Amino acid sequence: MDARLFLLYLFVSVASSELVRKKICKGVDTPTCSIHNVHLDPCPDGPAFCLIRRNKLYQVTVDFNPQFSSSNLKLAINGDSAKDATFSTEILPPTSGCDVITCPLQKNTRQSFNTTISLNKRSRGKFPIQIKLWNEDNIADVCCVIFNVRVLK
Ligand SMILES: *[C@@H]1O[C@H](CO)[C@@H](O)[C@H](O)[C@H]1NC(C)=O
Repeated sequence: MDARLFLLYLFVSVASSELVRKKICKGVDTPTCSIHNVHLDPCPDGPAFCLIRRNKLYQVTVDFNPQFSSSNLKLAINGDSAKDATFSTEILPPTSGCDVITCPLQKNTRQSFNTTISLNKRSRGKFPIQIKLWNEDNIADVCCVIFNVRVLK
């Protein structure tokens, strides 16, 4: 590979992990968790929204600080592709949060987790994606964040 091309490649691959603009989850009270940042990789066109190709893998990283500890964490990711605020499109069904974060979850500690998502052909247009991490032993303990994507045709 030409050296200049390689430098360009390096630049593009560094720049493609983008901070995405985060929004609060409506109807989900989250006084027990602060979300600092959400990154999607790749997302070269952020931060307002990320252009997503179907059936391609994206890594989402959440930087947060929970005000609770837990050994029984659940993680779920849903899309609102119907745009009716029901978030009925399952992207990651409820799964053990301890698979992606070291459990017990450390209270009052800034930390991050990442997971891989992919959208299927049922998703179209621009819509929000909601990431929810909660304590299965006390569902009042929840971290929740929303960001927008636009699925390419
Ligand atoms: C993603 O999370 C795993 C632990 O589940 C960690 O080992 C890895 O370094 C993380 N990757 C990034 C890019 O943060």
